[in-house]
This record gives sequence, structure tokens and C-alpha cells, in this order.
Amino acid sequence: MSVDLVLKNTKIYAFGRIIDAGLAIDEGRIVRVAKESNLPQASERMDLDGLLVLPGIIDVHVHLRDQELSYKEDFYSGTCAAANGGITLVMDMPNNKPVTMSRETLRERMSIASRRVIVNIAFYSAFPREISEIKYIVQEGAKAFKTFLSHRVGGISPNNREALLGAFKETSKNRVPVAVHAEDGTLLDKKIKELRLRGRDDFRAYLEAHSPRVEIAGIRRAIRLAKESNTQIHICHVSTSDGLKAIFEAKRRGLPISCEVTPHHLLLANQYLEKIGNIALTNPPLRSSADILYLRRALRNGLIDVIASDHAPHTLREKEGSSVWDVSAGIVGLETMLPLMLTMVNRGQLPLSILVKAFTENPAKLFKVKRRGLIAEGYYADLIVVDMKREWTIDPSEFYSKAKFSPFEGWRVKGKPVKTFVNGMLVMDEGEITGKPGVGKIIRR
Ligand code: DOR
Ligand code: ZN
Ligand code: ZN
Repeated sequence: MSVDLVLKNTKIYAFGRIIDAGLAIDEGRIVRVAKESNLPQASERMDLDGLLVLPGIIDVHVHLRDQELSYKEDFYSGTCAAANGGITLVMDMPNNKPVTMSRETLRERMSIASRRVIVNIAFYSAFPREISEIKYIVQEGAKAFKTFLSHRVGGISPNNREALLGAFKETSKNRVPVAVHAEDGTLLDKKIKELRLRGRDDFRAYLEAHSPRVEIAGIRRAIRLAKESNTQIHICHVSTSDGLKAIFEAKRRGLPISCEVTPHHLLLANQYLEKIGNIALTNPPLRSSADILYLRRALRNGLIDVIASDHAPHTLREKEGSSVWDVSAGIVGLETMLPLMLTMVNRGQLPLSILVKAFTENPAKLFKVKRRGLIAEGYYADLIVVDMKREWTIDPSEFYSKAKFSPFEGWRVKGKPVKTFVNGMLVMDEGEITGKPGVGKIIRR
């Protein structure tokens, strides 16, 4: 037998440990994981110099924009950034222009993406106006729904309790998860109004508005919705210790809940907000060092299901503004997430096994992504080659993302994705994009 590609002289993270072996890839799938002498003939053999091979990251929280928001990011620039960051599957959020919230808007997004993406892509939809439309959106291929408890995105306002519960119930029937931005809109709006009336528009005011209490109330509400509807829910970007505790407690009660943290909530404390400036403004905001320590400990102990970037690009101009209330919130994360986390692994702050679970295995399980997220025979060859010893400095001017700024600018990191394979194709090699637009696949439900 002769296959398309053999990767030899590698260390492979497979079966929960690192093994000295090679890989054979044929027609986009891994067909063999074995010692070099047991690998088949191949059209191409690549010697990887003993570097580590990991399953490609599944980033379940990405705002790729495109369409009328292409000036911020588009499918091509965003998925080049993903490939450069070691991410082989992105899950696209629905707060677009137009909002992804119907069969037609989803179909249109898929059609544009299919010609442009460099990595695989799956789609979230917001809830439609009519609950009866949920099943058609699922039939069209949405992997999950996303709802914001902070403000209305899509057809249902978070204030409309009955409709929201109805949407959760219908989603449960269709067996897709709901991801939740858990900030309580009622508390948040009240606080913002109050602060604005008092003329407050500084960073402190922003943190007071988006307080831990607002997040915890949002999380509790999401948990109640999960309980009443029996829907599998995924709490996005948890940033507070009390928020996490509420989630752990709900898990202990057996509710179908998962949660996610972002690198910025693990690494940046709000005491530096002033110093970093507007580019670090995001929702939920950066938190105290105590919260950070709690999040890191929970992650290390395997209690957090997923690490995701919440890549939320805007133009530099949209990030400027003299009042915090006028600044677009969001942090750019696709190209910094893996290096930052590998640095934690290198420092002994995080076991590699936990990193791989939170980046690949758990997302694949939670969002029912078949035959991806593991290195095993029969799985798609979505792989990254990582140089664990490479030390370098984060330089946003080198990003493929259109948003060339980051609160991590100038950080020294250790560990770098040097090659990315998507469906068996090399799409990124030493920072160069080698994949053609459209090489990524649309991952439908
Ligand atoms: O900071 C944020 N930015 N939080 C969100 O929930 C949305 C995101 C965006 O789309 O820019
Ligand atoms: Zn969010
Ligand atoms: Zn987001």
C-alpha cells in the first residue's frame, strides 16, 4: 500500500501520552500511527525532526465576522489567523451583520465560507423569531445555538422569559447545545445607566457595570434554563470564581452543563486594565488576581471543559474612544491562544494532557464533532506540529487577523505551532499560509 503522506521522526500525543512514532495520512485521514519501520510507502515523507504532533485545536468561540463586517475580519483573514495559531476547526458566532438566525442567513454564510476558509468551520445560530424555525436551522447544519443574556441578538430578547425557555426546550428536542453569554442584562443595564448619569466613563466604571455579580446572576439564570428545559448548555468565557463554583455545583447535581475559559481571563488581571488600555476591554471584563488564580487552579485540576479564544476583532478606531461606553469590546485571540497556553505548560503550570483535553477532545465530544479532536487511526488528519522549545515575542503586526493589536503584545512566550494540517493538507508552514481558500470543510450537524 502507498499513502499520500507520512510524517516521520515525531513525538505524537496519542492514547493519552507522548509516543515516539510516525503517522500515515491518506485521503485526509490518519490511516496509521506506528513506529517508523511499520509505516507504509508514501508519495511524500516529511521528517519532523522529533517535534511534537498534537491534534488540531477546536476553538468553539470565534467571531469571524465577514459579510457587512468584513472590514473587521473575514472568513479568509480569520481562518488564516486560526491556521497560524494551530487551530483546525473554528466555531463561528452568530452576532454578525446580518445576524445568523434563520435558515437563509445560515445558508448564505455557509456558502460564502465554503469558498474562502483555510481551516474547518462549524456554525452557531442565534435563536430565530419563531421557535418553530429552530428545527430547520438545525437541518441546515447549525452545530449549536448561541444566546446572549446581556442583550438581544437574534429573534428573542433575554427579557422574554417564556419565549427563551420555549427556545431552549425546542433546542433540546433537536439535540443541539446552547452556548450562553452569561451576563444578566437587567442588572447590567441598570448599572450602566446609573454610572452614565453620574458622568462616569472610566475603566473602573466599566468594571463596576460588568461586575462579578452580573456574571453570577447570568450563570444562575442559564443553569435554571438548563434545568427547566433539560438542554445541554455551554457557558462561554467564565471569568469569576463564584461563577465557576455555581457551575460545579450544577454539574454535581447532574445537569448537562459545560464551561469555557479564555486565555485573557486566565492571564490578565484587571489591575492592569488602565495600563494596557482599551484593547483589553472585553465582555465579560478582566477580573481580579484572586479570580485568575481560582480559574487556573480549576483548569489544572481538570474541572474546566474547554479553553477557547473568544476571538473578537474590531478596527483600531473602534477600540479607541474617550468614553469606555463607546469602545467596541473584544480581544483578538486566535494567534496568541496556543503559544500562551504552551508557555504555561513549559512553566509547569499546566499539564499537557489537560491542555489537549480542553483544546481538542472535550470540544469534539461536547459539540459532537465526529472523527476529529484525537490522533487515532480513522480520524481526520487535523494536526499541528509544535516546537515546544521555541522562544519568541508576540508581535501583532505579524498577525493574519485584520486586527493587528493585542494586550499580549511584547510578551515572551515559549512554544509555537510551526505546521498546521487540515484534512491532511498542510495549510500553514512556519508562519506561511500554504493552504488554498476553500480547503477547510463546513462541519454540519
Ligand atoms: O467582548 C465581547 N465581544 N463580548 C461579546 O460577547 C461579543 C464580542 C464581539 O462580538 O465583539
Ligand atoms: Zn460573549
Ligand atoms: Zn464572544
